[in-house]
Amino acid sequence: MKNRSLISIDDFSKAEWIKILDIAEDFEKNPKQRILEGQVVATLFFEPSTRTRLSFESAASYLGAKVIGFTDAASSSVKKGETLNDTILTVSNYSDIIVMRHPREGSARYASEVAPVPVINAGDGANQHPTQTLLDLYSIRKTQGTLDDLNITFVGDLKYGRTVHSLVIALCNFNATFHLVSPQELKLPSYIKRHIKERKLKYHQYTDLNEAIPSSDILYMTRVQKERFSDPIEYEKVKNAYILNNAMLEDAKEKMKVLHPLPRVNEINEDVDTNPKAYYFQQAQNGVYVRQALLTSILGVK
Ligand code: CP
Repeated sequence: MKNRSLISIDDFSKAEWIKILDIAEDFEKNPKQRILEGQVVATLFFEPSTRTRLSFESAASYLGAKVIGFTDAASSSVKKGETLNDTILTVSNYSDIIVMRHPREGSARYASEVAPVPVINAGDGANQHPTQTLLDLYSIRKTQGTLDDLNITFVGDLKYGRTVHSLVIALCNFNATFHLVSPQELKLPSYIKRHIKERKLKYHQYTDLNEAIPSSDILYMTRVQKERFSDPIEYEKVKNAYILNNAMLEDAKEKMKVLHPLPRVNEINEDVDTNPKAYYFQQAQNGVYVRQALLTSILGVK
């Protein structure tokens, strides 16, 4: 993985995903190791973020690296009209690795093609969010004891949810059965569904969330991605399509866990937070260990 960019989840092999998860397990036991001293990590966030940016910065800081970057393109020379090409070439002069989030699909791939340093995609529009996928896989393996043969239910905005797209592609390598719960308007795009069909895996589509819960090992809730809608009226129609509450979990499997990449708006009622099946805040914490594993692997220290 040394010096390689991670833009799409399948830029790394299944064996490499597992290696990252194993390294992350070691970091979970001992996160404060100053093995990246002297390295500089740039975080360029052209879109808002709490977890991805701060967990990358936390991961880098625990490892002794310095972090530079911006959290708002309006505070950078992008505001003066600088191109992505020029920003990336410039920041490459100041850093050993670039972590970038951008609203445009394909922007991260483009950045990786022009940058002389590795680029990690921290989310490009509605396309992919591969580092979220690795922490999701870590969370699934940790809670279920395996990644194989699981029933995974995705709920909400399957059309624009980049975390869903990357995770479906990854889970196609683990013989998952997919349960896809969404309004008609927010169904999983056919180019992602193609991965499921090519592997001849089972998938079931629902509009009623209650139908999918009893068979689920993982219930992966998502926010309706307001920022991707061109028509606000269309967003209003679907924004409250699914709101999970505690009572709805009564018939769930004992080991089932509720995941959510976060932020949530109102798709998980706060009464679920104290249910032992709620795992979304631990999931966010796992992001630190997985991102430590990624930074050290790509920078050639692990
Ligand atoms: N899961 C995730 O991408 O969260 P942020 O938008 O807060 O980074």
